[in-house]
Amino acid sequence: MKNAVKALLGVLLSAGIAAPALSQEADAAPGQRLFQQRCGACHQIATPRNGVGPHLQGVVGRTAGTVEGFRYSAALRDSGVNWTPETLETFLGNPAAMVRGTRMTQRFNSAEERRAIIEFLGSQ
Ligand code: HEC
Repeated sequence: MKNAVKALLGVLLSAGIAAPALSQEADAAPGQRLFQQRCGACHQIATPRNGVGPHLQGVVGRTAGTVEGFRYSAALRDSGVNWTPETLETFLGNPAAMVRGTRMTQRFNSAEERRAIIEFLGSQ
């Protein structure tokens, strides 16, 4: 009986639980790498420490311009934007077009990279 339960657990683990966990890991990797390459010079996410830009821990669901201790442009601070995957997508494609006067001006032109980075941001 015990063996049967063990065998059943083994099947469940390999089929139902372990497989999605593994594929999630595989998906998260490119976003994390891209974040380091494209954003890491100015933004931290592993620690809530501000640099050239504000830290991005928990940015999905956050109101723009609200990280304590970071000196935002008036434009971003007063923007009233709520960061969702959709608003992040628009912002990263052309920050200054969405928030006129923001100090983050770099555009990220690859939709595929934006998607991977935003997915990573949402997982943190
Ligand atoms: C050259 C530096 C630099 C790079 C590179 C950069 N940012 Fe920024 N980012 C900033 C600055 C500075 C601000 C604050 C802008 C302001 O106050 O107007 C900012 C603000 C933000 C905000 C708003 C945060 C908040 O608290 O409202 C988000 C989201 C953001 N950046 C995401 C990213 C992502 C994702 C990347 C990479 C794809 C990236 N940034 C690359 C400098 C940078």
